[in-house]
Amino acid sequence: MQPRTAFQSKTVVTDLVLPSETNPLNNLFGGELLARMDRAASIAARRHSRRIVVTASVNHVAFNRSVPLGSVVTIEAKVSRAFTSSMEVYMDVWIEDRESGESIKANEAIYTFVAVDETGRPVKIPELVPETDLEKQRFDAALRRKQLSLVLAGKMKPADATELKALFE
Ligand SMILES: CC(C)(COP(=O)(O)OP(=O)(O)OC[C@H]1O[C@@H](n2cnc3c(N)ncnc32)[C@H](O)[C@@H]1OP(=O)(O)O)[C@@H](O)C(=O)NCCC(=O)NCCS
Repeated sequence: MQPRTAFQSKTVVTDLVLPSETNPLNNLFGGELLARMDRAASIAARRHSRRIVVTASVNHVAFNRSVPLGSVVTIEAKVSRAFTSSMEVYMDVWIEDRESGESIKANEAIYTFVAVDETGRPVKIPELVPETDLEKQRFDAALRRKQLSLVLAGKMKPADATELKALFE
């Protein structure tokens, strides 16, 4: 299988925040943003693997900044690392300032997707080659995050989480 770059999976989704998607403070519901990110990330994972993909885990979400009604929100998703059948997808969320047109970073998130066949069984995917410094940084840390996610899900013994243990040595 030919390795692919992170850039080849890049997915950019831009949309408005409508009244039905907000909380009583007139800011975007967290769950609405999670759903939008899930869609963007699944497209990135599909572009990398060219297979059916399912969300295996939401590893990290930081709602650092609220997103007001009427905002133009852009989600940029890219696969940050591919393992055997699973992929980590890293997302940056931006809000566009109406007057200046500048994009302000609002949130970040990391999801894990698994490529599956028509019966839902995991299948092998191409490797990912990081190119930029940021892509390399995210690639390097992805194994640690995968191990943490597996430990939290009860699918890996903490004693086997070598990358996590290395953090404390
Ligand atoms: C995701 C799913 C395919 C994994 O199946 P599984 O039987 O656990 O398969 P495996 O144990 O072989 O794991 C497959 C891969 O997923 C990874 N994985 C599984 N659970 C994970 C988790 N919580 N966090 C990170 N990675 C995980 C495994 O490490 C493995 O990665 P690798 O092949 O790259 O090494 C299966 O759990 C599933 O279908 N879940 C439902 C998905 C879904 O419907 N999502 C939408 C929810 S509404």
